[in-house]
Amino acid sequence: MTTKVTVYGAGNVGATAVQRVVEKGLGDVMLIDIVEGMPQGKALDMMQAGSIEGYAHTVTGSNDINDVAGSDLVIITAGLARKPGMSRSDLLAKNAAIVGGIASAIKEHAPNATVIVVTNPLDIMTYLVQKVTGFGKQRVFGMAGVLDTSRMRAFIGMELSIPGKDVECMVLGGHGDTMVPLKSSIQVNGQPLGDRISADRLAAIVERTQKGGGEIVALLKTGSAYYAPSAAVVEMAQSVLRNEKKVLPGCALLEGEYGYNGIFLGVPIRLGKDGMEGIVQMDLTDEEKAMLDNSANAVKEDIAILEDILAKQ
Ligand code: LAC
Repeated sequence: MTTKVTVYGAGNVGATAVQRVVEKGLGDVMLIDIVEGMPQGKALDMMQAGSIEGYAHTVTGSNDINDVAGSDLVIITAGLARKPGMSRSDLLAKNAAIVGGIASAIKEHAPNATVIVVTNPLDIMTYLVQKVTGFGKQRVFGMAGVLDTSRMRAFIGMELSIPGKDVECMVLGGHGDTMVPLKSSIQVNGQPLGDRISADRLAAIVERTQKGGGEIVALLKTGSAYYAPSAAVVEMAQSVLRNEKKVLPGCALLEGEYGYNGIFLGVPIRLGKDGMEGIVQMDLTDEEKAMLDNSANAVKEDIAILEDILAKQ
């Protein structure tokens, strides 16, 4: 049996993720979106691209939320982007309705799937999917850290005039302004950064990383980032589907790790055939731990808003 990957949301993040999945040969894809014709049209386009690119996997478009049936892995990108004038809790309520419905369909039709959540607000949507599906924490986690890290790696690379791929670092915490780029984790070609970047410049890179999503929204004007977000989620998916056991920053349920309980937060996780196979405990400086506490508190506040919304339903 070939691997089945379902992607919810045929917008830029979802559709680009599908393209990367088939170009990497990870499996057959079901692309599901509520907009009539759009997933079918993009799927057909990608089937035709396969004639040139040489991939054999199929892409099928659907408007039926239940076509997730039989999936090994599900990526959820569906949801609204924040519009001007929309509060954080408005977005949270709207996307909770969309993502909650998707999670119910996954629970019923794809009970053995591993689920990677991408929809914002990321940490809260991941919490919701785990709650609705009741799946173990190994099978529900979120993508944000790989994206945030990719930005920091690129910025450091740009500063040093080297490719971002030669830079390693970790960004922990929630996917928002409170995220925690770990300066102490930066390595260039396997060597500590040392004093190659001044403290001022490094502080500016940290801030630019924290605001990295907003910088792109401001430039694009009519949308948000999708090349790096889709690359990030597919790196996580590939580590699961190919049992690569990569340690990547991801949004996972914490049960005591890093001193937190019952919340989803970005931490280093090992991804393999059983999904989120373990959480890696890193040594943090006092400053980094204080920043992580701040980020955990922001996530806790949003979980409280979500629980309030669910209680009223
Ligand atoms: C980003 C938003 C969309 O970081 O989450 O690009």
